[in-house]
Amino acid sequence: MKHEYDVIIVGAGLAGLRAAIELGEETRVAVITKVFATRSHSGAAQGGIGASLGNEEEDSWEWHMFDTVKGSDYLGDQDAIEIMAKDAPRTIYELEHIGVPFNRTAEGKIAQRAFGGHTSGFGKAPVKRACFAADRTGRVILDTLWEKSLQRGIRFFDEFHILSLIVNDHQCCGVTAYEIATGEIHVFQSKAVLLATGGAGKIFKTTSNALASTGDGMAVAYRAGAPLEDMEFVQFHPTGIYKLGILISEAARGEGGILRNNEGERFMERYAPTIKDLAPRDMVSRCILEEVRAGRGIDGKDYVHLDLTHLGPEVNDTKLAEITGFARTYAGVEPNKEPIPVQPTCHYMMGGIASNADGQVISDSQGNIFTGLYAAGECACVSVHGANRLGCNSLLDTLVFGRRSGKQLRKFIHSIGLPPVPETTEQQEKEKLQRLMNGPGKEKYGAIQAEMQEVMMEKVSVFRTASGLTEALEKVRALKQRYARITVSDQGSCFNRELLDVLELENMLDLAEVIAAGALYREESRGAHFREDFPTRDDSKFLVHTLAACRPDQEPELFTKPVTITRFEPQERKY
Ligand code: FUM
Repeated sequence: MKHEYDVIIVGAGLAGLRAAIELGEETRVAVITKVFATRSHSGAAQGGIGASLGNEEEDSWEWHMFDTVKGSDYLGDQDAIEIMAKDAPRTIYELEHIGVPFNRTAEGKIAQRAFGGHTSGFGKAPVKRACFAADRTGRVILDTLWEKSLQRGIRFFDEFHILSLIVNDHQCCGVTAYEIATGEIHVFQSKAVLLATGGAGKIFKTTSNALASTGDGMAVAYRAGAPLEDMEFVQFHPTGIYKLGILISEAARGEGGILRNNEGERFMERYAPTIKDLAPRDMVSRCILEEVRAGRGIDGKDYVHLDLTHLGPEVNDTKLAEITGFARTYAGVEPNKEPIPVQPTCHYMMGGIASNADGQVISDSQGNIFTGLYAAGECACVSVHGANRLGCNSLLDTLVFGRRSGKQLRKFIHSIGLPPVPETTEQQEKEKLQRLMNGPGKEKYGAIQAEMQEVMMEKVSVFRTASGLTEALEKVRALKQRYARITVSDQGSCFNRELLDVLELENMLDLAEVIAAGALYREESRGAHFREDFPTRDDSKFLVHTLAACRPDQEPELFTKPVTITRFEPQERKY
């Protein structure tokens, strides 16, 4: 089936919806989404959205910018970070005006809480910068934006999985998608495409991410010729529920929660004397695993305790109601009386589709634009998070750059007509699906996926070495070979979950290869990328972004581009 729109947005999380709203009623815009819009993973964001409102304590956008630059281990592009930190207060008031029900202070202002790595006075002390709605901040923003986009008459194609970008004469002119309910292939022709498909945490065995976070947008862009940037930087959130990875928000520590080892010691005091449990995530995750390695994990196992008992039900059951509910349901502990068992869980991709601050996708190291292709949110790398994202900067990133992408798209589509789509597009996708459905091979996606997740968790997570990364890379490449012999048992066309899993797996394997290759190439430690064989940061060689370009049937081609430094020269990162 064929459709024509001015703009196709893929993904109905905060970045996609914010862009759609910006495009407004005068643009023919459709949102394609793999899950029903309000099930998008943005809805799982818990603790808050950062902005220097100064409602609880003195704050400034320069401090927010500094913290983000330092948090990024100086790899974030400072021009983009400045845009985000300056635009944050406006973003929050905009949300307030469209009805987002933020928590309030006693005087009725938007309430704010502390979050990891956010400080006052350029690193002097923690500051309350995260605006929040209990620990359901993403949920309330997503629902509010969704209502707004319905008011705007935005057309949604729910439960459509993106198969490919349509590129004609170096210009993106639409997407192909698989309708999950019917098995039908759809061709969406458009003047421009915005990818806002979120992250890819499902590449790792333990993750806080939703099942749908399989990196589809990043993978289709990569295969269509858009380079991926800084993919080796994968964030592990320190506090996932032990063995399950379900997120226990950093807001728990923002409200005063404390991490303790098997001796009951508040160990973060030793590692980060100034901001303790509110150090950035890369550090806290490493510190937890250092405690485990030193034999101070709980019961000699690979987890520690998050103690909220002293906060009492007045905090735990109101401002932290969702995560204390998770602790009861999934960990079987009563957080008002017992600590929660936690360990690092894969949470966020700092890397993504190389893009500028207006959402335009970059096609090379010179910054040339991939005509008609845009990206925003977690699937994009602007880069505002560099080597490590600070908590509560992700929701902000989606909204600031989703809006800017919408504005840029509006300008772009007025200057061009609908570009032609090659005649063979639909047939090519049909043939590809038929090959998968009718392939003679014997490989099953479940085994390949489990082995990929295992090796990525074992060798490419918080601690990395050359030998482990080489092993992982070889394994992922072998899994890609096996993928070519995959077979699909379910031959149905209605909600064929197995086929969807197979399609997602191809995306994850491509990204796993890029992550491991980038991590092997980067012989230094920076932010979330910690090489035990190169334990220090090396600005002389690696103060650069890594870009990976897809070469069909070959290893990715890696190249670099400089980091934009405007106000803050790289310094040693101490907390
Ligand atoms: O811990 C959290 O609530 C997560 C927030 C974030 O990733 O920004």
